[in-house]
Amino acid sequence: MKNIREVKDLRGKRVLLRLDLNIPIKGGVVFNDFRIKKILPTINFLKEEGAKIIIISHIGRETTETLLPVLNYFQKTMEIGFIKDVLSNDADSFVNNMKEGDVVLVENLRQHPQEKNNDESFSKQIARLGDIYVNEAFANSHREHASIVGVPKFLPSYSGILFQEEIKMLSESFQPENPFLFIIGGNKLKTKLSLIEKMLKIADNVFVGGALANDFFKEKGMNVGKSFISEEKINLSSLVNNKKIILPTDVVVRNDGGCIKMKKPNEVLNDEKILDAGDETVSHLIKYVNDAKFVLLNGPLGDYEKGFGKPTADLIRAIANSDAKSIVGGGDTTAVISELGIENKFTFVSTGGGAMLAFLLNETLPGIEALK
Ligand code: 3PG
Repeated sequence: MKNIREVKDLRGKRVLLRLDLNIPIKGGVVFNDFRIKKILPTINFLKEEGAKIIIISHIGRETTETLLPVLNYFQKTMEIGFIKDVLSNDADSFVNNMKEGDVVLVENLRQHPQEKNNDESFSKQIARLGDIYVNEAFANSHREHASIVGVPKFLPSYSGILFQEEIKMLSESFQPENPFLFIIGGNKLKTKLSLIEKMLKIADNVFVGGALANDFFKEKGMNVGKSFISEEKINLSSLVNNKKIILPTDVVVRNDGGCIKMKKPNEVLNDEKILDAGDETVSHLIKYVNDAKFVLLNGPLGDYEKGFGKPTADLIRAIANSDAKSIVGGGDTTAVISELGIENKFTFVSTGGGAMLAFLLNETLPGIEALK
């Protein structure tokens, strides 16, 4: 896999730059620019080298979603054009008239279902706009979509600057310093179970939080009331008694009447829903953080989107202030980090959510393989 920095002469070259601009938008405005800030050095590098930069990306999952709020964001700091449809003749004329250092953003590729279907002729059509392809969308590289795995079949292809860094930094988890603490939260246990099993072989302690812990409570025979648990039947019998696994020792619950309480996991009532970790859990976990030499975290401890974010924020702050090497990621996690304004206090903050998890599990991604 070659990196974009290795290309000798980029002057005048049409560079198809695949970014992951799938970022939170609220009221038509970019709400969290963490991912954009992380790829700005790549855009600046390509501009300085005199490339013509054609940015392609997706946003959201519906064909109706648009990158216009992201365009407005970019326009505040740089001159940037916009191509409404990657398949249109206008796209060709726009690109033909670009000068060295010019930048254009192409509208959400997922407006075409062929993107997700990894349609070969769609990939070829995208490729017609560039001389070379750069994947700077690590966070989407677990998807076998046209602009991730299809386009590299038609153009000389390179990894981006951040893409390379993501691989290097996340790979540190495979030969970690000990004690190594792995913290995993959020939901969708089914997609995270293999990674938990893998990390139990490498890490000294594995904290399972967020809604993932509910399945473990249930396996231990506790009542989880109305808490979110996996729809699929997952056999956790071999895991629940694993000494390396740490579960919350107290939880925040809300009942049907809206009353919020902190209690032990085995005290949850039928009309209660577990929404966060309790204070005792967080203090306990922070002790592990302070003893660790390496902390790897993905996912929140609570239902962050519904306002249950304080325990996660306290934990994140403790990781930032600890001496441990720290690698963290996941959409909600990076949102907390941005809110706290402490992006620079970690060894590495991954732009990946699902891609980070998939890389940690498989040590590669479809998007990486496509560049080889
Ligand atoms: C992300 O935001 O994590 C990636 O862009 C993946 O998005 P997707 O799950 O919609 O493919």
